[in-house]
Amino acid sequence: MSRSYFHNGAYGTMLSATTTVLKSIPKSVGAFGALASRLKHTLPDLPYDYNALEPYISADIMQLHHSKHHAAYVNNLNIAEEKLAEATETKNINQVIQLQPALKFNGGGHINHSIFWEVLSPNGGGEPSGDLLEVINRDFGSFEAMKTELSSASTAVQGSGWGWLGFNPVSKRLRIAACANQDPLQPTTGLVPLFGIDVWEHAYYLQYKNVRPDYVNAIWNVVNWDCVSQKLHDAMMDC
Ligand SMILES: [Fe+2]
Repeated sequence: MSRSYFHNGAYGTMLSATTTVLKSIPKSVGAFGALASRLKHTLPDLPYDYNALEPYISADIMQLHHSKHHAAYVNNLNIAEEKLAEATETKNINQVIQLQPALKFNGGGHINHSIFWEVLSPNGGGEPSGDLLEVINRDFGSFEAMKTELSSASTAVQGSGWGWLGFNPVSKRLRIAACANQDPLQPTTGLVPLFGIDVWEHAYYLQYKNVRPDYVNAIWNVVNWDCVSQKLHDAMMDC
């Protein structure tokens, strides 16, 4: 997978860190111990300041969301993986199975938020261009139609979850999807995530209270279309 587009600057650091983090899930639990401690997941830095997305997303939200909520997913994922390593080492299949929900929830939370930070930017907003816009027009009719469909899907999530623009590697087409809780898009639907909207209340309640549609409308002002375009390019190259 080519990451050359973002090899320089803050996004390069962010993407590199995210890629490293997401690939750091131990493949050999027999190596539990010193190796496992080296492979712990870590909270990636934001590629911008906590107040950089104002007025659309407040600094208070960003700080809590990143330093508390995302950090908790990372910590709990590491704990679950340590328990998984122990359970696998001792062939405790009951505990291996018991750990799956925690791995899905916290692993999904880590994956989802790592994507979320990088597809937002204080210099974002407006409309996509180039290949991304062409594919959006082909699959949705227009950018506005895609925006409306993703906004509606995100707003309609019952309880906590995410709305996603994803790429189907089989049909080679873009799709809108919604996921409950922290279910990660690719492992649960097969779609490659390009852009996601976190509609957990922790993502907007401090600023928008219960008016989720206002938050969803506002987030379009800070979409990092360059990053979304690169994700589409990478997904198409991986097919
Ligand atoms: Fe979140």
